[in-house]
Amino acid sequence: MTTYRAARGTRDLLPGETAAWTRLERLVDDLADRYGYRRIVTPMFEQVAVFERGVGEVTDIVEKELFRIAPRTDEGESWALRPEPTAGIVRAYVQHGMQTWPQPVKLAMTGPMFRYDRPQAGRYRQFWQFDVEAIGDPGPAIDAEIIELGHRVYADAGLTGVEVLLNSIGDLACRPPYVAELTDYYRARSGELPVLERDRLERNVLRLLDSKDPAMAAVNAKAPRITDRLCAACAEHFAGVRAHLDAIRVPYRLEPGLVRGLDYYTRTAFEFYVAGREGQQQALGGGGRYDGLVELLGGRPTPGIGFGVGLDRLLLALQEQDAPAAHGAEAGPTAVVVGADPDDTVARLRIATDLRSAGIAARAELGRRKLGKQLESAARDRAHFAVIVGDELGAGDVQLRDLPAGTQKVVALADLAREVSRAHAAHRHGVEKG
Ligand code: HAM
Repeated sequence: MTTYRAARGTRDLLPGETAAWTRLERLVDDLADRYGYRRIVTPMFEQVAVFERGVGEVTDIVEKELFRIAPRTDEGESWALRPEPTAGIVRAYVQHGMQTWPQPVKLAMTGPMFRYDRPQAGRYRQFWQFDVEAIGDPGPAIDAEIIELGHRVYADAGLTGVEVLLNSIGDLACRPPYVAELTDYYRARSGELPVLERDRLERNVLRLLDSKDPAMAAVNAKAPRITDRLCAACAEHFAGVRAHLDAIRVPYRLEPGLVRGLDYYTRTAFEFYVAGREGQQQALGGGGRYDGLVELLGGRPTPGIGFGVGLDRLLLALQEQDAPAAHGAEAGPTAVVVGADPDDTVARLRIATDLRSAGIAARAELGRRKLGKQLESAARDRAHFAVIVGDELGAGDVQLRDLPAGTQKVVALADLAREVSRAHAAHRHGVEKG
């Protein structure tokens, strides 16, 4: 028999893992609400051109990692699964005329992204991002708000020691001359460059700056720095971002080699790492400003900034730190309905249905096992109550057993939901009332 497995670089999140996962999703949802970023949902695939124009044709993400979809008919369009959310969100911003809404338009999204990358720890072909975008504000105050929000995601999730690496990569005025200067610098030292970097030099020279190849360290240390070459407007913007970050006490480290792997960035660029791990580890999250992207995708010139947090990497980092959030316990049912007559599944199902209608997390034992086994399974589920259906049912009563307390009493079916809710709430507030 053929056995089937999840595709390479993808994985199943099983119920034991989804408790921590769901908690993270709730946490980022709540943060988005608190900061006023409204939910947007865009399709998981877009026209390839959205990514080619948006992310950039000469980026790893588009050149090597795009999951292209083979069209079934000749509709004259080609699509790809989204490798990242920003290009699709900006496409939606233009398509739906969000330029006429009050600016900035603040949006948030959580969902799966797809990159045909070489799978390894923390690098998947399907992974999740929490993404926020503020479109229509040139900054610099919003830059600081966004960076602080990203930083807070990690802190609130319980991850310690997360550092913000910050840079400005200039704009269309100051970056081209800098790129030319940098290209000359590396060309003059091409003999010292590893083959891969020599190849990149002619295609995307900025990427050499954040090369992880140890052979590049010495060459990069002496390379001209973008932050020394910023035009007056970019330098002023960058100083503004830092002043706002200082004012709200977000610690950051200036990292002139930080250039990011997507072409749409201008000015502010940042990444989040567990301090001391930036050499070996991939970023936990990152983002930056993209003042030319709306125009590239057909809209009026409009500034924007955002970031993406990799939820898979956040969970891995929490596990590495053995943080409580990594072991989110699954909530058991409040009540399990069991019965002395193994065959009377009707009564058990009916009572559980009524409890659920009343808003109580309940399940019924629907197998035909003996009462002792049914009670064992209720305890294994860490239920608070067992509702025991027995002879009293004729008189409209059941036994209600408080499993942790080991107490039991007769309750009228008509009062059951109220009694379970009351006792459960009292238990949760630590006011045991018996
Ligand atoms: P990015 O740096 O390409 O930026 O991805 C953001 C985060 O997604 C990374 O820091 C990482 O945590 C996670 N990530 C990326 N690739 C993988 C992978 N193969 N497996 C697991 N996690 C991964 C963006 O995508 C930009 N759209 C961020 C942004 C929003 N910039 C402005 N607005």
